[in-house]
Amino acid sequence: MDKIVRIFDTTLRDGEQSPGASMNVDEKMNVAKQLARLGVDIIEAGFAFSSPGDFESVRRIAHEVEGPTICSLARAKPEDIDSAWQALKGAPKPRIHTFISTSDIHLKHQFKLTRDEALKRAVEMVAYAKSYVDDVEFSPMDASRTEEAYLWEVLEAVIEAGATTVNIPDTVGYALPGSFGKLIRGIRDRVPNIGSAIISVHCHNDLGLAVANSLAAITNGARQVECTINGIGERAGNASVEEIVMILKTRKDLLGLDTNVNTEQIYPSSRLLSSITGMTVQANKAIVGDNAFAHESGIHQDGLLKEKSTYEIMTPESVGLSKSTLVMGKHSGRHAFKERLVELGFSLDETELNKAFARFKLLADKKKEIFDEDIEAIVL
Ligand code: KIV
Ligand code: ZN
Repeated sequence: MDKIVRIFDTTLRDGEQSPGASMNVDEKMNVAKQLARLGVDIIEAGFAFSSPGDFESVRRIAHEVEGPTICSLARAKPEDIDSAWQALKGAPKPRIHTFISTSDIHLKHQFKLTRDEALKRAVEMVAYAKSYVDDVEFSPMDASRTEEAYLWEVLEAVIEAGATTVNIPDTVGYALPGSFGKLIRGIRDRVPNIGSAIISVHCHNDLGLAVANSLAAITNGARQVECTINGIGERAGNASVEEIVMILKTRKDLLGLDTNVNTEQIYPSSRLLSSITGMTVQANKAIVGDNAFAHESGIHQDGLLKEKSTYEIMTPESVGLSKSTLVMGKHSGRHAFKERLVELGFSLDETELNKAFARFKLLADKKKEIFDEDIEAIVL
């Protein structure tokens, strides 16, 4: 089986659906260019039919951003697909991503469609998109709450109609890793023509499981993951690009899979998105949070100063940070304190060091973080 997991970045579409994350065309261009530097395989640049601004963003990104496939979302409606194509046409690698709900909850309460009507529409619209472009992705929205036999039937029919990627969304973040993995395994086993399409997943984070569910899908055969920088997206967000990519890189020993992502561009991408949207990243966020490579505990600092791998499973440089930080606080130990004094240009004998360390501990009990100026004041 293919050893590359394709990264489909939807920061500019689903990510932009986060309250407070909307971006103008120039801002989207900046993010898209950074995503190309990051090396994602596909950029979902927007939902062309949804607004003139989105249309223009998709159009400009499709024409000006080199490298990744550029995709527009489109409901399973001719007018959406026409608009997606108008925005994408002329791009070196265009993709239309069309979707329709397949769960009974959505069909009955929201769309007033029968299962047969939804299936027919899905097939017709995939074929319609295919009349414009070879690269067509189809999503059965709310797949994780769709009856499995019906889901298999829909997937078989849309692949027959020309879909080259079938994306399985956990639209409301309801799935658990075990059952989501089984769902993907079932699709591989029960959809006869599944070998003609790539299985993708799109997981939301309502229960904090978006990354775990995506990983369960990957280990069961998914080879495209839809995700966003910093995990932004509708409600609690989507699976985060940085977590998926660094899991695959860090645990390649176990998973044996790769991505095409240039991981040193992860941190710059995260910071660019935060600065544009104003949505800050929580300090303890995996990979890109301020504390992800910061150590305060004396025991950890001691280990780290002796050998980095004692407390770091990946290097800060691998995600684009220049180094890890030893935070000076009440949990810090003598080893790190001494190291910081050397960095600051002080050379104390053993007695002076003991006295300075005692003063440092007293101050650290009163102050959350001890800065270099505090240390200088202690010593001088
Ligand atoms: O969450 C979802 O189901 C979506 C689809 C449009 C793929 O965003
Ligand atoms: Zn979504």
